[in-house]
Amino acid sequence: MIDLPVMQFPVEKLINTARASRERAYAPYSGFRVGAAILTSEGRVYTGCNIENASYGLTVCAERVALFKAVSNGERQFAALAVISDSEDYCTPCGACRQVLAEFGSEVKVYMCNHHGEYIVKTLAELLPLSFKLKGGEDGKIEDSPRPNPVRVVEPVDR
Ligand code: THU
Repeated sequence: MIDLPVMQFPVEKLINTARASRERAYAPYSGFRVGAAILTSEGRVYTGCNIENASYGLTVCAERVALFKAVSNGERQFAALAVISDSEDYCTPCGACRQVLAEFGSEVKVYMCNHHGEYIVKTLAELLPLSFKLKGGEDGKIEDSPRPNPVRVVEPVDR
């Protein structure tokens, strides 16, 4: 694990860390290797790669592996995540990973890279507006992207 203050952690280094993690991908079924690296608010980095399974649905994406390693080490606040595959195209997280990442903050920056290390960057709020939240997380508050104004109904449906 790399341990550096966040300001001293260049994006290029986060991407290179994700790229190195891609080498450990277990992807015998798709052949599509993915690496991820997540940076905590305090500057620690955790890595992940995709881990496939013979019962395809049990496959876990690189992003979730990195996040789960971090959370299981006691981390709760994140600044950025880099994700990279072997592809010419930018690696954009799947919907499931967006929801899981959004649990820990909508302002996390996601650097989505192609195999050259070029990237596009978006916050989680941009990648998953109106993510599902439940009241009563660890600190009891809902940290969320703003809700749009609802459409008013003339006749309430229930109550
Ligand atoms: N995959 C990831 O690990 N992250 C992504 O952002 C996209 C997809 C993995 C899952 C599966 O092992 C393979 O890529 C093909 O879908």
